[in-house]
Amino acid sequence: MAYENILLEKEDKVAILSVNRPKALNALNKETLLEINSIINEISADTEVEVLIITGAGDKAFVAGADIAFMQNLSAMEGREFGALGQKVFRMIELMEKPVIAAVNGFALGGGCELAMCCDFRIASTKAKFGQPEVGLGITPGFGGTQRLPRLVGSGMAKQLLYTADVIDANEALRVGLVNQVVEPEALLDTVKKIAKKIASKGQVAVRLSKAAANEGMQTDIDRAMTIEADVFGLCFATKDQREGMTAFLEKRKADFVGK
Ligand code: CAA
Repeated sequence: MAYENILLEKEDKVAILSVNRPKALNALNKETLLEINSIINEISADTEVEVLIITGAGDKAFVAGADIAFMQNLSAMEGREFGALGQKVFRMIELMEKPVIAAVNGFALGGGCELAMCCDFRIASTKAKFGQPEVGLGITPGFGGTQRLPRLVGSGMAKQLLYTADVIDANEALRVGLVNQVVEPEALLDTVKKIAKKIASKGQVAVRLSKAAANEGMQTDIDRAMTIEADVFGLCFATKDQREGMTAFLEKRKADFVGK
């Protein structure tokens, strides 16, 4: 499939998806969400890709939100449908077996902040700006923001951001735990690629099971969560990677993982 609103590059075992709608600061309309949906399916099935990076094309925006021009005259049912589409695509990213890192290079507002939040973690450039400005447009966030923001930064900070529509800079995002690291704009992609390649060099069954256990465990009580961990831990002992990882350690050499 040819994509009009996204770019895809692959480098070693890492894919880089860039949202690319320069005329609207990479805002998400329905077509862009459908393209992301399709490319996520492709990347999930691509055996040459172990880690996905999501970023925004250009140097100004990650994603400046859902497309306001597209939403302006939606009916209630159309609004509901658009929200459900964004939620579905972002949940698919969150539940992808492969790790996903957001490289936030500029404005990550509304749907852009929500896209960054469905990734496993976020690295930001000093130029990044985060916020959920929806109440200033007379709407609530619709692609998961009311749910993921409190889970990431805590209820009080999330509610202040949701009710005031305040936009915060990268250092404040770091302080409240929305991002893991802030780097200079020129260093952003290289920093994130380095992290992605480090992840790709490990045992991929274990990486993916770690993601699944963390995601599932956070949705349940601690006893059930520990059972989930015991199950994935046990499952690792059925893999070649476990034998190789432990043998390599004991033989004092680098492990050669096969992802099985
Ligand atoms: N939707 C549609 N178009 C957008 C857009 C968006 N979210 N954000 C920016 N654009 C467009 C602008 O309309 C403008 O187009 P024209 O050149 O045709 O006028 C172009 O991108 C450049 O934007 P600005 O001139 O506004 O650039 P700026 O540097 O002055 O400001 C900005 C940058 C602060 C990000 C500003 O563009 C802005 O506030 N954008 C809207 C942010 C927003 O409210 N996002 C939330 C949307 S609602 C949502 O996302 C709901 C949800 O949860 C699903």
